[in-house]
Amino acid sequence: MAEQTWLNHIDGAWVAPAGGEYLATIDPATEEPIARFARSGAADVDAAVRAAHRALSGEWSMLTPAARGALMFRLADAIAADRDRLARLETIDVGKPLRDSLGDIDGVVATLRYNAGAADKMEGATIPLGRDIVDFTVLEPLGVTAHIVPWNFPLGMAMRSLAPALAAGCTCVLKPAEQSPLSALAFAELLDKAAIPKGVINIVTGLGEEAGEALVRHPLVRGITFTGSVETGRRIMATAAAGIKPVVLELGGKNPMIVLDDADVDRAVDDAVMASFENAGQVCSSSSRYLLAPQIRDAFIERLCARAADLTVGPGLDDPAIGPIVSREQHDKVLGFVSAGVAAGARLRQGGGRPAGLNRGYFLEPTVFDRVTPDMALAREEVFGPVGVALDISSENEAVELANSLGFGLAAGVYTRDIGRAMRMMRRLEHGCVWINGWGVGGGQGPTGGMKESGIGRERGLAGIRNYLETKNVAIRV
Ligand code: NAI
Ligand code: MG
Repeated sequence: MAEQTWLNHIDGAWVAPAGGEYLATIDPATEEPIARFARSGAADVDAAVRAAHRALSGEWSMLTPAARGALMFRLADAIAADRDRLARLETIDVGKPLRDSLGDIDGVVATLRYNAGAADKMEGATIPLGRDIVDFTVLEPLGVTAHIVPWNFPLGMAMRSLAPALAAGCTCVLKPAEQSPLSALAFAELLDKAAIPKGVINIVTGLGEEAGEALVRHPLVRGITFTGSVETGRRIMATAAAGIKPVVLELGGKNPMIVLDDADVDRAVDDAVMASFENAGQVCSSSSRYLLAPQIRDAFIERLCARAADLTVGPGLDDPAIGPIVSREQHDKVLGFVSAGVAAGARLRQGGGRPAGLNRGYFLEPTVFDRVTPDMALAREEVFGPVGVALDISSENEAVELANSLGFGLAAGVYTRDIGRAMRMMRRLEHGCVWINGWGVGGGQGPTGGMKESGIGRERGLAGIRNYLETKNVAIRV
């Protein structure tokens, strides 16, 4: 394939980076470069933010919320019509199985449609202050918003925040991850088809510490939404503080799957297979720690290992169960966790190495450890790879304490047939999402986000649109 070079998408046009430099994105299944894209700096970001700022008072602002929603529905239709191409780009850029990429694009369309339908349903309030004062609120778009997204669900994460920002009437600058810019750039080609006014969505590619930093810093950016690592989230928040800019941060987790003695073990194992290995484990809400009661521990581990051993691993285009890890850096990091786990005395029960017959590409067998203790890195840190980690618990109370013992607080799951027990634990779990007997159940209509160091704010649902609305209080003396 001839390597294509992608430019930034600013004010409805393709624009070369001012510095004239480009980066390469690679196919993690082959380790070969597949395309080049702009390495943007402050000047490019400035052009994009200014375009978004102009668009804020242009044609876009004249539309009624319903008309804005109608354009978003058109954009959703354009994405749905281009589903195969977008999914293929996602697969070659980040490695995920084609079936999963198609599912991701369907999710993008659903997110856009949900928010399109809500564009004319965000209502203010009237505040009762008695006969002499009329007091009401007006909801206004925040302004230009910045969207900095990771590589695990490139277009999915982008749309999770772009769609509610558009519904609110904001204009946007998106910075895709440097590992996975292609689907966002291909998406830019659809904006014109859907008659989205120029400058409403701008896309600048490049490195986090260059393009990303410049975007967060830009004085005309009024809000920042970020998904990624805790460390980068902390840095973005510190930078945003200078301009008193609100941030929405989704920063990953070390999510406990608590399986109690009376659980349906097969259901828990089914969920663990999906939630630990899908997307090669590169999911913020993966089931990354199993906290297992002694009565079900052996059955759980044995069944999980058998299922893991059966999963096919290969290039995403072949549609295996598991594709490669996104990059060499990430692959090395995950292998580092595996060897540190072995060195610390955890027991490797399944996988742990390169699958037979795959001599290039960033592949790793689905891996399971047991006899992991709470002090080990495997039990405390986000591995972000296809690695399941089992710890023992001796009581419900110990499970909750262990679940809450880290800085992370994104998602927790409880498996038990006793709903009272599940509800008691739910109340005590310091996690933004609690799933009972079904990992990741729920939909795009419900809010998601983390407690503690897993983040600030909630995305999805109507709460997600509120992130992009300012409240103006108007009081009238009658
Ligand atoms: P990262 O958090 O550094 O990068 C995510 C995005 O932030 C990318 O678009 C990047 O360009 C941008 N960025 C980086 N530094 C920035 C800065 N100073 N200012 C503005 N934007 C910046 O994550 P990275 O390095 O790709 O992965 C490291 C670890 O983060 C992973 O191993 C994983 O544990 C975690 N992670 C969590 C994700 C989640 O879904 N919560 C997604 C991706 C990574
Ligand atoms: Mg790539």
